[in-house]
Amino acid sequence: MSAPSIPFNRPAIVGKELDYIQDAIERRQLSGDGYYTEQCQAWINRTTGSLASLLTHSCTAALEMAVILADVGPGDEVIMPSYTFVSTANAVVLRGGIPVFIDIRKDTLNMDENLVEAAITPKTKAIMTVHYAGVGSEMAALQRIADAHGLILIEDAAQALGSTYEDKSLGSLGHLAAVSFHETKNITCGEGGALLINDPAMIERAEIIREKGTNRKRFFRGQVDKYTWVDIGSSFLPGELNAAFLFGQLEKVADVTATRLADWNRYYETFAAYQIEGLRLPVVPTNCEHNGHLFYLLLPTETDRAEFIAHMKANGIMSPFHYVPLHSSPGGQRFARVHGSMALTDSLSERLVRLPLYFTLGQDVERVIEVASDFIAKLSSSQLS
Ligand SMILES: Cc1ncc(COP(=O)(O)O)c(C=O)c1O
Repeated sequence: MSAPSIPFNRPAIVGKELDYIQDAIERRQLSGDGYYTEQCQAWINRTTGSLASLLTHSCTAALEMAVILADVGPGDEVIMPSYTFVSTANAVVLRGGIPVFIDIRKDTLNMDENLVEAAITPKTKAIMTVHYAGVGSEMAALQRIADAHGLILIEDAAQALGSTYEDKSLGSLGHLAAVSFHETKNITCGEGGALLINDPAMIERAEIIREKGTNRKRFFRGQVDKYTWVDIGSSFLPGELNAAFLFGQLEKVADVTATRLADWNRYYETFAAYQIEGLRLPVVPTNCEHNGHLFYLLLPTETDRAEFIAHMKANGIMSPFHYVPLHSSPGGQRFARVHGSMALTDSLSERLVRLPLYFTLGQDVERVIEVASDFIAKLSSSQLS
């Protein structure tokens, strides 16, 4: 089968990535925590206003570290949406904890903050919210609930670098946050991530967990005369080549975001013109600014979605659906539990389809619009008939 002419995602060189990789090699440190890791972490702290950050080899790793830092142990519960990537839940299950899924909001598809309190039990340790499509969860309400019940608030900000909630960067609002630099994200180094730490009491332990449970960082800073095993941990850090590539991308975040937002807005204006029952576009609350990470359509039915995907594919355009809700997966049924109805998660997830969106999409955005509009116009005439 030939490759699609317009893929869903295409990674690109956007700045000095290759120069920085060359420079990292000349600096003769390819293992982690060298010059470029420091540059990336300083950039993240400066740009997001987070207290501290640690690069990791994935967002999955950062989530696993966050759950260790939240002291989640066997039988402890963590409230989260089911409409998320498997890593949000797996991080909890790996500690013997139980993900407790609640339904999402109809507008943003983020966890519904109004359902959190009823799901809290004496076993609840943390709340993990996901900023779907880089659009902020209702953080003020979540912070209030976490404070009132003494819970740790974790942001799964995998998709949300560069987005804000009430003018504050996503990732800087929970005790902890995890971002992703996977190839599909706005800013990438192939596989990569970062843990953002906003509670000063957690910084030193985070450094230890990331360095296989040793106090190696303190040793390098000259604070102890030898390093040793002091806590649980793993090897969560990336090598310098990835960090060097990542720094080249981070420096260009403004260009990347502006380009993606221009295409996102072009999609939005086009499809907003259709008045079709059951067709819906993304909603961005007025207190949020997003980073143009993902553009989706909600089609009237699951069958419409399957037909839309087939139509796009027949025209050489990849247009995938997104998460299969975790509560309906074999892993979710085995390791997690549900609190309350999942009606919105079920119905919205089966109608959602994503359109291609990447830095070098360029004029192909018009081709995607043309092919998608063909399908939507037919939907419209079938509703009239
Ligand atoms: C919400 C969410 N969390 C976590 C991840 C995992 O990110 P990574 O691939 O960097 O481990 C993803 C990946 O797409 C995601 O969408």
